[in-house]
Amino acid sequence: MLKLENVCAGYGKSQVLQGVDLEVRPGEAVALLGRNGVGKTTTLRTIMALTPLSRGTVTFEGERLDALPGHKIPRRRIGYVPQGRRIFPKLSVLDNLCLGLTRAPTEDQLGPIFERFPRLKERLRQAGGTLSGGEQQMLAIARCLIVKPKMLLLDEPTEGIMPKLVAALREEIRSINEAGVSLLFVEQNVPTALAVCSRVYIMEKGVISHETTSADLRANPDIIHRYLGVSM
Ligand SMILES: Nc1ncnc2c1ncn2[C@@H]1O[C@H](COP(=O)(O)OP(=O)(O)OP(=O)(O)O)[C@@H](O)[C@H]1O
Ligand SMILES: [Mg+2]
Repeated sequence: MLKLENVCAGYGKSQVLQGVDLEVRPGEAVALLGRNGVGKTTTLRTIMALTPLSRGTVTFEGERLDALPGHKIPRRRIGYVPQGRRIFPKLSVLDNLCLGLTRAPTEDQLGPIFERFPRLKERLRQAGGTLSGGEQQMLAIARCLIVKPKMLLLDEPTEGIMPKLVAALREEIRSINEAGVSLLFVEQNVPTALAVCSRVYIMEKGVISHETTSADLRANPDIIHRYLGVSM
């Protein structure tokens, strides 16, 4: 479904990605793990054509995304939830939800969102910035879901969220995947990544250094320690 082959990209003279190969198959949830600064966010930005690619290819459903202008990529039904939940704090929840739409939302678009995130429905007229961190993250995800994407790229959705809310958010993300949306999931919280995803890529210094399954990582926590420096 989504395939990166030998992707090299960076900022000016600094090459961050040095030949990334990864793949997400239809319906899969795949985690991209790695220490700070190895290039996880840059990988997602490169898929969305927000960071220019200098070599390699990004293919989505057989079509080369790297040849498309960036603004066309969301229309290919890939949603991107950037790191640090970029919602607009002064806009209402409803206006934040509708940002990606060219016309007023239909009942068919809003209904499933409200069913999934009842907290947002209760707070539609409230300014986005007054939501809790977890609610803002839900809003950022809901904004992508409203256009019914086939795939979501999620960049550390549980970062800085109260532990109590992390479990609920994790369940929501899992249920989005179960509803058929493929996921590429960057996450520092390893238990959350393993709970949601079946396959895992580990990135080190701009390349994928290890590829495995969540089951394998659960059985061999020493791998997590070796590559990520955290214990489970
Ligand atoms: N806009 C930018 N201009 C220049 N360098 C950048 C820019 N954004 C990121 N970098 C650099 O690229 C490298 C990879 O950054 P990236 O944000 O992809 O890492 P990451 O794996 O997502 O890290 P984290 O886990 O901290 O979010 C870092 O060295 C970072 O300083
Ligand atoms: Mg990042």
